[in-house]
Formats: sequence, structure tokens, C-alpha cells
Amino acid sequence: MRLAFDDVSYSYDGAKAAEKKGRRGKGAQREAAWGNAPDAAWALRNVTFAVEPGEFFGVAGHTGSGKSTLIQHMNGLVHPTCGRVTADGEDLAEKGVGARVRQRVGLVFQYPENQLFAATVYDDVAFGPRNMKLGADEVDRRVREAMALVGLSFDDLAERSPFDLSGGQQRRVAFAGVLAMEPEMLVLDEPVAGLDPLSRTDFLALIASFHTRGMTVVMVSHSMEDLAALADRILVLSEGRVFALGTPEEVFADGAGLRSVGLGAPAPEAFAASLREAGFSLPAALYDEATLAADIAAQLGAAGEQGGEGRG
Ligand SMILES: Nc1ncnc2c1ncn2[C@@H]1O[C@H](COP(=O)(O)OP(=O)(O)O)[C@@H](O)[C@H]1O
Ligand SMILES: [Mg+2]
Repeated sequence: MRLAFDDVSYSYDGAKAAEKKGRRGKGAQREAAWGNAPDAAWALRNVTFAVEPGEFFGVAGHTGSGKSTLIQHMNGLVHPTCGRVTADGEDLAEKGVGARVRQRVGLVFQYPENQLFAATVYDDVAFGPRNMKLGADEVDRRVREAMALVGLSFDDLAERSPFDLSGGQQRRVAFAGVLAMEPEMLVLDEPVAGLDPLSRTDFLALIASFHTRGMTVVMVSHSMEDLAALADRILVLSEGRVFALGTPEEVFADGAGLRSVGLGAPAPEAFAASLREAGFSLPAALYDEATLAADIAAQLGAAGEQGGEGRG
């Protein structure tokens, strides 16, 4: 699925005003247009980009920059105040389209474990598929498969209350509930926030494996290291606007620009930039720790030989 944002602006005020008047669509959009509501706080402003099929699309930005608002537009949960969001050309704000797209785009909220509600893990994971009016056998197959995918033992946990599980397990249950809808696109809002380092690594590997298997993934993250390692492209938001959009190499090349919007390049890349200023020749476009260590070692080795400091 190709998901396109076309000049999307969103104001929580504008949306509320439209709701109060029981009006949506054209009239409400005119009302909330720039000129008519100059004081409204705009969570998104003139955002245009597209997520291409099969892509791993990263979203970065300072707190309050509009990341969560942006991704709630991706499955029609929130509609633009101005502009439009389309899935393969169909407008998500149109009747019927949103509901259909919601089954194809799995949205995992930040701290999704807070939205668990059912008496058993089974019922929580089964909620989405049951809503899709699937038969009991198909629901059962999907619950088992989704639990296996996130590393939860069906036999041990399916009949337990989700509220008796650890935080990490609860997040897996919430994640399984979205996977059980078998979406073709996964949209994740800070999926590893608040997890311990080991669970973080597990979760990121799991997310990477979905992408490898052909799923389109959109991931909001505070970690530039994670985005550098996983994303094909990264969108950087600042105050609701697109600040940058490109490959990790392109986006992280502008260290000063990123700092101006409260972000930084991944730690190894920032370190490489300082070393370059100190005269090191470090050729890679984007460094991870291992590659940087190897290149520094190579340079020091070369310098040692040239300087004739031979110790033996
Ligand atoms: N439910 C809401 N009602 C009103 N304003 C909101 C609401 N949620 C977010 N905002 C505002 O919209 C802007 C973008 O917020 P958000 O999308 O949550 O950013 P991020 O996820 O990048 O931290 C912020 O100014 C925030 O205060
Ligand atoms: Mg957020």
C-alpha cells in the first residue's frame, strides 16, 4: 500500500470546533483554514510525503513536534483539518474507506499495554479478528499465530489475565492484538519506550523481521541509533512541519540542523563528525559503533607506522 499525505494540516482546536457544530468535511475545513484561524495551534502544518510499499519509514522529532498526531492519520483514526491522506489513491476521510484501511494498517499506540481490557490474553488478542467478523476457527488460528510471533506461550498465557503479566509481556499482548488483524502495514509509536535494554533489543529484532518478510513499517522513535540501523528513510518533524526527509545518511549529515530542532545524529556518527574536525579521515556516510571503531583503529595503526613509533 502506498500511503500519501497531501498538504496535511491538523489543528485539535479546528477538529473540536467542527465536531461541536456537527460538521465535517468541506465546511469545517474552510472554517479551520489558515486565514480564518490564525491563532489555532496547528499540530501539523502542510505536511506532504508518502510511505512507499515495503518501506521501513522512520519518524523523528522533538516532543510535541506532531509525531503521534501524524501517525494517527495513517489509519483514518484522525482526519486532516486541511489536506488529505490517501491509501493507494483513496481518501481516508471518505465514508467506508477509513474502515477498510483500518484493517490493513495496524496502529500500535505508545504504551499500548495501557489499552488492554479483556479478562484473558486470548480475548484481548482476539478482539480485532472478531471485529472483522471472522469465524471462530480463523480467530483461533490468528490468536495462536500472533502470540507465537511475539514470543508468548499460548499454553501458558492464553487463559491468564493480561493484568497479571509483566510490563514487557503486556506490551507483547497488545502487539499481538494488532498482528492478529494481519495488517500489511504496521505503524508503531515509540514501540520500545520504557522497556528494559534486553526487551528493547528483542522487540526491535521482531519489528525488523516483519519488515524483512515484506511488511511496510512506520516507526516513531526517539532513538536516532535505532532509526539509523533500521529505517530506509527518516522524516524529521519540527513544530508540525517537515524539517527533513531522506535516507539516514542524508538526514544525519546535517548535524547542526538536527541540533537546531532538538535532535542529534546517532552517537557514533556525532563522534565521527568531531573526529573529522580533529583531522581524522573517516570515509563512511553513516557510522555504527563497530565500523567506527574499525576505521579509528586503522587510522591509528597507519599513523603509528608513519610516525615510526615502532615498539618492536
Ligand atoms: N489531544 C490533544 N488535544 C490538544 N492538543 C494536543 C492533543 N494531543 C497533542 N496535542 C498537541 O499537538 C502537538 C503535537 O503533539 P503530538 O502529536 O503528541 O507530538 P509528539 O508525538 O511528537 O510528541 C503538541 O503541541 C501537543 O501539545
Ligand atoms: Mg508522541
